[in-house]
Amino acid sequence: MKVFRIEGGTPLQGTIEVSGAKNAALPILAATLLTPEPCVIRNVPNLSDIRLMAELLETLGANVERLDANTWKVEAKKLTPVAPYELVKQMRASICLLGPLVGRLRKAQVSFPGGCVIGPRPIDLHIKGLRKLNCEVSIEAGFVNVDASEIEGSDVFMGGRMGSTVTGTANVVMAAVLTPGITHIENAAAEPEISDLCNMLVSMGAKIEGIGGHHLIIEGVKKLHGTNHSIISDRIEAGTYLMGAAMSGGDLTVKNVPCAYIRALLDRFEDSGIDLEMGQNQIRINTEPKKLRPVDTITLPFPGFPTDLQAQMCSLMTLVDGLSIITERIYPNRFMHVPELQRMGADIAIEGNSAIIKGVESLSGAPVMASDLRASAALVIAAISAKGESWIQRIYHIERGYERIHQKLAELNIKIDRLDDSDMPASIKGLV
Ligand code: EPU
Repeated sequence: MKVFRIEGGTPLQGTIEVSGAKNAALPILAATLLTPEPCVIRNVPNLSDIRLMAELLETLGANVERLDANTWKVEAKKLTPVAPYELVKQMRASICLLGPLVGRLRKAQVSFPGGCVIGPRPIDLHIKGLRKLNCEVSIEAGFVNVDASEIEGSDVFMGGRMGSTVTGTANVVMAAVLTPGITHIENAAAEPEISDLCNMLVSMGAKIEGIGGHHLIIEGVKKLHGTNHSIISDRIEAGTYLMGAAMSGGDLTVKNVPCAYIRALLDRFEDSGIDLEMGQNQIRINTEPKKLRPVDTITLPFPGFPTDLQAQMCSLMTLVDGLSIITERIYPNRFMHVPELQRMGADIAIEGNSAIIKGVESLSGAPVMASDLRASAALVIAAISAKGESWIQRIYHIERGYERIHQKLAELNIKIDRLDDSDMPASIKGLV
């Protein structure tokens, strides 16, 4: 397995470019199944999750071609409705195949996605939404089976105990665009990735009103045509690098920033006293943690502060003098990064679904273990800001969601090496 060795102490300095959004690209690639005509999808980040989705589309019968590193062409003339366990188990987002299969084939058999380290991730709302569209849904032998032969437009409330659901909304939207009648989705997730999906579907001939809001109105059409769509840039990647710069005391220009999508982060920056130079789709950040004020943060659905930036915010606050409280409202147990940050000297206590962070003078490099995508990002920015050497294990997590992170950071003169775990000194191998 690959590991990162990072020698801390070099701030993020220079210019970095944000890639396409993984969480927009995954459902959009799935949506190409809604038409037998070719779809060309551009600005797709080159990531293992994307390659896995391409493999899933091929398994379902689509012809998938990679035109260049960031462009995919999908032509789904013929499809089978079965998404197998071997592939689905590797990526929870595979569940977003349910909607397109239902829309196109009126039938789906998608393996039930497995557990997840960031907490329970049920799909009850996806199922509730499809049932509202008059689909028969059953769970048998580890598969979600949908019979949509009687599907019809309806009123769907996409909410549950934890609020709206992003992929659940995507599934119902993708099913409804080819469903006779009108579907109203209330409490729809309004994340930019959902708007990108809806805009892509409209470019294929779908009729969707209310894009960007919590009430989507979809008039089913008989068929959709091919499209040429470019994925929005990744707000979470942008936020991660901005926080990395703030934490390491850098002077970083982040290009391709979807500024309108990171308002909640910019608001926290403002309260913390970070000066930003805002440009056309780019932000320059020039600060150091010692000048910042601690801020409290609560994760919420968009436009609130995203859960996918919570771990990185925890990292940043470990070096800000004073007390900050970070509360997780989307995945209440998503604090796997905390014990690893503690290994680096952070002063953090978990109280229920909150992390209470007392800023320390400095972090010290340590061998740490990445547990999931965003926790690994938090560890990378902590390692860059720490004194001494860190070894981050299980970096396959970070490579699922950050395109070329190793090269992008190396181009900023960060001392980062991507090595085999066999290269780790014997003295630290047994420590994590
Ligand atoms: N939920 C339910 N029932 C459902 C679905 C969700 O109770 O049927 C709950 C979840 O347990 C959670 C909340 O609703 O508490 C929100 O979950 P949601 O369905 O919105 O999450 P998701 O669609 O599975 C996407 C992203 C996640 C991101 C969340 C929240 C993709 C592929 N994944 O997941 O991204 O954290 O929305 O914004 O789009 C990541 O990129 O690291 C990542 C985990």
